[in-house]
Formats: sequence, C-alpha cells, structure tokens
Amino acid sequence: MTTPLSRTAEIRAVARDDLQQAQAMLQALLCDLFDLPVEGLKINLDKYSLNSLNGFFSASGKDYFFKFHQEEGEEAMRGEYYRADILASAGLPVDQPVYMSTLPGEQVLVYARRSDPRFSDLLYELDGSQDKDAIQRAVEAEADLNRRLLATAKDSLHPITPAQSRAEPIHRLFHERLIDPASGTYPGGRFKHFYVGKRFAFPNEMGLDWQVLSSARPVINGLEYHRSLGELFDLAHRRYQPERLADAGGIIAHGDAHNANVWYERGVASDRLAFFDPAFAGRDVPSLLAEVKSTFHNVFAHPLWLYSADLTKERFSASVRHESGKLFIETDWALSPVREQMLTVKAEIFWKPWLAHLKAQGLLPEDWEDVIRIGLFLSPTLVMNLNAGQGADLHNPISSAIGFAVALSAGSRPVSGKDAFSSFFDSIMPD
Ligand SMILES: Nc1ncnc2c1ncn2[C@@H]1O[C@H](COP(=O)(O)OP(=O)(O)O)[C@@H](O)[C@H]1O
Ligand SMILES: [Mg+2]
Repeated sequence: MTTPLSRTAEIRAVARDDLQQAQAMLQALLCDLFDLPVEGLKINLDKYSLNSLNGFFSASGKDYFFKFHQEEGEEAMRGEYYRADILASAGLPVDQPVYMSTLPGEQVLVYARRSDPRFSDLLYELDGSQDKDAIQRAVEAEADLNRRLLATAKDSLHPITPAQSRAEPIHRLFHERLIDPASGTYPGGRFKHFYVGKRFAFPNEMGLDWQVLSSARPVINGLEYHRSLGELFDLAHRRYQPERLADAGGIIAHGDAHNANVWYERGVASDRLAFFDPAFAGRDVPSLLAEVKSTFHNVFAHPLWLYSADLTKERFSASVRHESGKLFIETDWALSPVREQMLTVKAEIFWKPWLAHLKAQGLLPEDWEDVIRIGLFLSPTLVMNLNAGQGADLHNPISSAIGFAVALSAGSRPVSGKDAFSSFFDSIMPD
C-alpha cells in the first residue's frame, strides 16, 4: 500500500508541470486551512528561494505572503514559527507569522506581505553608488541593528552543555555540510559533492585537481598564507563539531542573518532593519557563530562575486598559477567603500565589545580567532559551489578564482603582511 501524498506534497508535484492548476489547488487549501476568502494566489518563481515554495495572495483587502517547504518535513514550519517567537521575545525586530497550519503534511506559514526592499537589494544598488546620504542612512541602520544584537547577546549569554549546542539548527549551515548526513562520515555533504576529487577550472584554461589544489600553500596578491584549502576543511571539521562549540557559551540569535533575510524599512528621520526567515535561530546559539554568516555574507561576499558570477567576470580580473607546491592567485577584486563601512560598523559595534565581554566572563576560548575564521571560510565555500570545473554550478573560472582567494584569506593569517581579514581581526582583538 502506498501512503497518499499530503495536500502540500501534491501541490508541489503539480506545480512542476502546471502552475495554474497548483495555484488553484493551493488557493482552495488556504481557504480551507485558515477559513479565509483567499484570492489571486500566485506562486513565486524565485531562483534564489531554494528552501521554500512561496508566493502571495490577498483576502478581505489585505495582502499576504505564504510559504511552505520544498521537502516534506514535519517540524520545518512549526520550527520557524517557534524560532521567530524566541527572537521577538528577546526584543529583536523580526517578522512573525499571522497564520500557521501545523497539520501533518500541511504546514503552511502566512505573513503580512511586505513591500520593503531587502537590505541585500539596497546594498547591491549602493555598491556602485556615490549617494552619500543613502549610504549614510544604510550604515546607521546597520549600526542600530548591531547595538541591539550586542545588547541581546549580553542579556542572553549563558553557559551551554555540548548537548545543548548539538541541538541548535545553526550547525546545519556549517558542520552538517561537511559530513554525510546519514552516516556522519567526513568528507561528505556539500563539501564532498562540490569539491573532493573534482577537477577545477581557472582562467586561461588552467585546470587543477582537488589533490593539488587542496594541498597547495596559498599565495594571494603576493601574500603567503598559513593554511591550505584542505587543511582549512579538516580544521573546520574538527573545530566545528557541534559539541566543541559549546565552549564559548550560548546566546539568542538569528544565526542566518544574511541581508536577503533582512528588510530595509524606510523611515522619516532614519531607516530601520528587521529580520525574517529565522529558520536557524535559537536560544543556545554558540556565541562565536551567531554573527559569522552575517559578517561574511553582508561584507565579504560583495561586490558581486558570490551571487553574480556573470557580472564578476565582466568587472574584475583574476589569474591562477601552481608552482612548486604553491597556489598563486592574483586579482583586482576588492571590497567596495560601502562594504568597508559595513565591516567597520560590525567590528566596532558588535565584534569588539562582544569579544571583550566574553573574555570578561571567562567564556572566550584561546583559539577564538580561528573559530571565527573557520566560519568566515565555510560561509562562501558551503553555500554555493565555487568550483567552475567538474560539476560546476553558477561559477566561472574568474569568479571561482576570486572566491577561493577570498575564502583562503578568511581562513588563516598571512605569514607576513596584512590583508582585509587580518586588519579586521586586529581591530576586534580584546585588550
Ligand atoms: N512577508 C513577505 N512579504 C513579501 N515578500 C516576502 C515576505 N517574506 C519573504 N518574502 C520574499 O520571499 C523570499 C523567500 O522568503 P524566505 O522567508 O526568505 O524563504 P526561504 O526559506 O525560501 O529563504 C524572500 O527573499 C523575499 O523576497
Ligand atoms: Mg531566506
């Protein structure tokens, strides 16, 4: 006997061939679940929204956004509801659902529809802009959010057990992408799928095998680094074991606050940021991990290279060479002025006082810089396939070379000299 498909699973299946039909079915389902006169339901075809099937509808003159997961998962949507509540109760600005269905197989969340831009879209515009006033307002909104993040982190900091750390969903963004989900074997997951044993393609028809690439000593724009790509993944696998990350305590945090999960609300005197999509939020988020993804994705992933590989190859250049066990990468890619300002805000308002506070509480591990560096390194390498060769996804030889240059310089310090990451770490070092 086969189990019948749940109604959302059936809608997902129909949506693949007949969008109109799926929309009609979903409209009927939402009417039924929420007892609402649902009208004009549209499913979004957003290539960036890999996790949820979502879209808009209206009812009694109000506009709504709905989402449900692409995969069948009992806990998924209730999880998001509960996690939004954790953040809101701690006083952080976050969207909370107005309707929720938790029926098995029919977990749907409904939010009031927003017309604000996402902060990622606004900053994308500002990367190339000279509009000082607009940049200033964005920087102030970021500063204000970071003051609130610091206050929440301080208020909620508490010792956590290895088991409490393990139970946090944030590990799905890091450690669980390095291992096989079923057996726990390393290498596995996205790491193995994207990189291990693959052939890589760099500019000028230059190809390298994983063995060679992963063991080479990086030399980026003339600076030699301590750790190879392979050493970084191995270190990440050991140090990012969920249990080991309990050593710096836990806090209430969103955990995945990249700016495509942040609204930009324009006000009269000033503008304001608000979170949404808190699927990885928690009460016991390891305290050094909470702001790592936002630090990487809102600063070092831009301009362009991580999400707009096609434009990257038009705007920037990069070259790669392998010689006597060294991987030389040269590129003219650099942070834009607005990203530099975002980094300064994050460093001065969040990281520096936060590390000082952890130290004063006796919760700052000796290797804190490595813990943060590993998270910065894993953010781009495990979110998207940076390989432009075998099994390539969106990246091309130039954006791939830039990507590995950025990730490798996040992962360890130059043997001598300074780069953007070492200046950042020097600026947040507790006294
Ligand atoms: N309340 C809302 N109003 C309008 N659009 C929304 C709303 N919430 C999310 N979206 C849009 O849908 C996209 C995906 O939503 P998100 O909650 O981030 O789901 P996912 O889990 O797929 O990342 C967002 O990037 C945003 O553009
Ligand atoms: Mg999202």
